[in-house]
This record gives sequence, C-alpha cells and structure tokens, in this order.
Amino acid sequence: MNFEKNILCIGAGYVGGPTMAMIAWKCPSYKVTIVDINPSKIVQWNSDNIPIYEPGLYEIVKATRGKNLFFSTDIDKGIRESEIIFVSVNTPTKTFGAGAGMAADLQYWEKTARQIKNSAESPKIIVEKSTLPVRTALAMERILASPDSGIAFDILSNPEFLAEGSAVNDLQNPDRVLIGSRETPGGLKAREALVEIYTHWVPKEKIITSDIWSTELSKLVANAFLAQRISSINSISVLCEKTEANISEVARAVGADSRLGSRFLNASVGFGGSCFKKDILNLVYLCRYYGLDVVADYWEGVVRINEYQKERFVLNMLSTMFNTLAGKKICLFGFAFKANTGDTRESPAIYVARRLVEERAELVITDPRALANAETDLSDIKDRISFIEDPYRAAAGCDAIAVMTEWDLFSGLDFERIYTQMSKPCFIFDGRNILDHERLFEIGFNVFPLGKSALKHF
Ligand SMILES: NC(=O)c1ccc[n+]([C@@H]2O[C@H](COP(=O)([O-])OP(=O)(O)OC[C@H]3O[C@@H](n4cnc5c(N)ncnc54)[C@H](O)[C@@H]3O)[C@@H](O)[C@H]2O)c1
Repeated sequence: MNFEKNILCIGAGYVGGPTMAMIAWKCPSYKVTIVDINPSKIVQWNSDNIPIYEPGLYEIVKATRGKNLFFSTDIDKGIRESEIIFVSVNTPTKTFGAGAGMAADLQYWEKTARQIKNSAESPKIIVEKSTLPVRTALAMERILASPDSGIAFDILSNPEFLAEGSAVNDLQNPDRVLIGSRETPGGLKAREALVEIYTHWVPKEKIITSDIWSTELSKLVANAFLAQRISSINSISVLCEKTEANISEVARAVGADSRLGSRFLNASVGFGGSCFKKDILNLVYLCRYYGLDVVADYWEGVVRINEYQKERFVLNMLSTMFNTLAGKKICLFGFAFKANTGDTRESPAIYVARRLVEERAELVITDPRALANAETDLSDIKDRISFIEDPYRAAAGCDAIAVMTEWDLFSGLDFERIYTQMSKPCFIFDGRNILDHERLFEIGFNVFPLGKSALKHF
C-alpha cells in the first residue's frame, strides 16, 4: 500500500508508544513506524503483552499494528524512509560529571541526532517529543547542519503533555497541542506539516503554535506548576495535622475558587513518576546556569517538600508503632507511582520501602500492575520483601498497612476480613487518603490519614 506520509518515532517508551499509536489510529493513510534500540521492547510491542499498561492502549495497537503501525529495531531504515521523525528518547537526570543530580542527561538525545545525520538521504522534519532543556533545538540544528550533510533539516518542538494512566484519553482529547518552530520560511512550513497531522482529530483552536524556545520552556514550566500544586497542598497537610484542621476540607474550600480549580489538590505521600522531579531539577539547573539563584531556590523548594513528605510519612509510622519497626511486618498497598499504570519510576513507594527495610521491618508489597517493576526496583533488598498480588493474602499476618497508590480496588476491599487476619494492634497509614477512615476505625484499626487527625484506640 502507498501511504501519504511516512512518520518515524525514535523511542518506543511511555510516550513514543501511545502517541504514535494514536497518530496511526487517527490517520490511517499515514505509515507510522516506531523504532527502539532495545530489541526486547520491540518484541513486546509486537506481541499480545505490550510493554506498558495504559487503559485502552492495547485495543488501539491491536487495531493498527501491521496495517499502518509498525514496530522495528531498524533505526537507519526508518530514518531513510520517513519525512517526519519524532524523537522520544529518555532524557533522565544526569548522574555524572558537571550538573550531576540536576541537569538533563542528553546523551541518548545526541546519539539520535547523530544517527539521523548519518542515515538521512533526504530532507526531514525532526520533532522534539522528549522533554528537553530550553535551547536544545539549537544543539540539534548544529549537529544536523554540518556542511558535509547538504540535507535540510527543520527542527520542531512538540512537547507531550499526556499523563500516564490516562494517556489514551489525554491524547485523544488534549487540552492543547503545542508546536514551536523557528520563524523562518522552512520552520513555518514544517510547523504547518505537523499541524496538519494533528488536525485529523484535534480541533484547530486547541493547536497552539509558537516560537521554539517558548515551546521548549513551556513543558518544563507546566510540570513545575503541576508539581508545585502537589507540594503546596502537602506542605499544608502537616500544618493540618498539628492544628486539627482537615486537609480535605481545606482543599475543598481552596479548590472551589475558580481562579485555582480543584485538581491536583489531594494530599499524598508525595509525587512520583519519571518527569516531575527531573524536569524541576532541570529548570533549577537552567536558572542556576543563568545566575538566577533566587529563582532556582524557589523551584527547588518544590522538590524539597516532596522529599520531606516521604520522610515524614516513614517517621510517623515509626513513632506511631512504638518507635520500633524491627521485625514488624508491613504491607504496602500499591507500588506504582499512581493508579492505572504499572510505572514505578520515582514512585514514593520505593523510598518508603527502602526506609522501612532500613528500620528492619519485613515488607509485603501488593499492586495489581506494578509487581514486576517493584521486584526490579528492590532487587538488592528482596530477601526482606514478599510480592503478593492478592491484597487479602498480602495483608494477612501484618502489623500495618501503608497505602502508597490510589488504586480504586483498595477502597472496595473487605476490611473486616483483612482486620481479622492481621496482628493486633493494627495500623493503617493512608498515604493517599482514599479509604473510609471512620469505618476502618469502627472495625478496630488505628487509622493515620494525611493532613487529618488520627483515629486511635489507645
Ligand atoms: N512518561 C511520561 O509521562 C512523559 C510525559 C511527557 C513527556 N515525557 C518525556 O518524553 C521522553 C520519553 O519519556 P518516556 O517515559 O517515554 O521514556 P522511556 O524510557 O519509557 O522511553 C524511551 C525509549 O527510548 C529508547 N531509546 C533511548 N535511546 C535511543 C536511541 N538512541 N535510539 C532508539 N531508541 C532509544 C529507550 O530504549 C526507551 O525505550 C522524556 O524526555 C520524558 O521526559 C514523558
């Protein structure tokens, strides 16, 4: 079959997979190929057991795979045959050298740029899908535009705003699609080519076009603002615990203000996910690079509150359970960084699990989708941990439950049954405030929500 356009995406991860599956689904006349350096990931994408859990995604992949959606490890061939190349490789926090622990590690990104340069035989539009520091497009332009290539490349920035757990819906009905380009004739033409793809399903008024630097920076700023809301409410949760105020009531009252809105105001054990922390640290690093230390300190505070919230959750467990956790059995309800995903990157549960093991507790972890990742994350301490999918079996014989992830299934459990099988006195630390605390107290649990008074039988 002859396709109208050939699109390539480099990087078959949490972003590349769903975004390209959506384009293939909405644009049947385009051929969409996704490539990755990790062959086992490609094998999984080509199987019935795709590598990420995302509600509704498998159905879309099944409907398009082999028709106009293809997964491959042949990156060079993909580059040669495509006019538009999305780059969606990982850009983690740098762990070495200058900027370690703060700056974005751009090694995967740069490798991709060089590979595009070496394999391309015709002009290409390169789309930055990965989240990158502002002005990265300049580096990409410089790598690609070296005199020996003689091929024209236009760089666009098209950051992705999907949230894991609701990626399919977010991609199908985005609040906005943001596309930035150079304001040159070539840049504007490339921008139009990308707009044309999205107009297959996104209303035109939701497609924002802008200059390239503002677009790159907007993604970092959007994540910083979202994380800031979580840290803001979490910082108030500790004040509520000291003053008998109730964080849910405060959030309700504050969120009813139409200038603020009610979303992202749930107090929790802290935010996780692969993006928030790394993107804020990237922003902080950029500010320091430009000598803006006061601005850098301001944003760094968002990360500091998050670390504080995780540590204070553990210390609260320790002091409540009579200042020793040694030999106690604690069940973590959930390990994913949020509900409806199996992703555990930067999950607060990793920190909590490690700290509890440091206190010599024994852990049982239950999660409907994230147990395989949990086992990998904690492989060095797994002799102190059991991984059990059935929450009833997981909680049996434990002294305490700590809710780490807001999976719906946890609030629907039969807690009377769970209570009878636990050691007494037994404790629940609700790190997501999703359970019916009064009811749990009536059953006999000692209940420790976040940002609310504890309900204790002693
Ligand atoms: N996960 C999210 O929710 C999310 C949301 C918006 C933006 N982002 C951004 O999107 C980017 C990708 O994130 P992700 O979560 O999809 O990462 P990921 O780790 O799930 O996927 C990245 C993929 O790129 C592949 N890769 C790395 N170098 C490669 C190369 N040279 N050639 C081919 N493949 C290569 C890796 O093998 C991996 O499969 C990051 O910059 C991230 O900040 C992520």
